[in-house]
Amino acid sequence: MLLRIPNVLTREEVLHFRERLSQATWVDGLVTTGHQSAKAKDNLQLHEQDPLAHELGTLVLQALERNSTFFSAALPLRIYPPMFNCYREGQTFGYHVDNAIRYDRTRQGLPQAIRTDVSSTLFLCDPDEYDGGELVIEDTYGNQRVKLPAGDLVLYPSTSLHKVTPVTRGARIASFFWSQSLLRDDSQRRTLFELDLSIRSLTQEVPDHPALVQLTGVYHNLLRQWSNV
Ligand code: NI
Repeated sequence: MLLRIPNVLTREEVLHFRERLSQATWVDGLVTTGHQSAKAKDNLQLHEQDPLAHELGTLVLQALERNSTFFSAALPLRIYPPMFNCYREGQTFGYHVDNAIRYDRTRQGLPQAIRTDVSSTLFLCDPDEYDGGELVIEDTYGNQRVKLPAGDLVLYPSTSLHKVTPVTRGARIASFFWSQSLLRDDSQRRTLFELDLSIRSLTQEVPDHPALVQLTGVYHNLLRQWSNV
């Protein structure tokens, strides 16, 4: 499932991110890349240990926490600390699949393994600020080209081949991160997301209908059956 979630960040928050990132020390994006995708990758990132990445990553996580659509669609068990990248003119990231497992080394003790089930990109620049820089995701319905307003997020299965087309003017800044989901399987996540949407819409329209209790029970029983925790 590929899903666009608008306004994950407010306009004011986007401005705050942009202001803070104007002071950023960008490093070569190859620092976080697996062997296979290194050949395809040419961009800049904040170093994972950079205090600014931690500061802004915490704000991203806070924004996600108040976003029920993100939770319903991704059903996150763990979220890898959000990272930040920048593509300047001429930079690009060719087709690749993200590494299956990431190790969170920002915590005390042994690094925590996180299986990447859901990939997210949170756009921090508006589409008119740069040319190119589209996120292209291979999907069963064909290629999806994604370029969203600042503050909007796209999520898609981490199993997908994807790329960022070359930026030909301006710069493209975004945050990106992975979630390990309670459900490994994308089609199961989609089924539960659609069920949740239906329950929410019925709750609005016929709040006292007795079948709503049953339907909510079905949601939770499927989640219990399918979740791998
Ligand atoms: Ni990727």
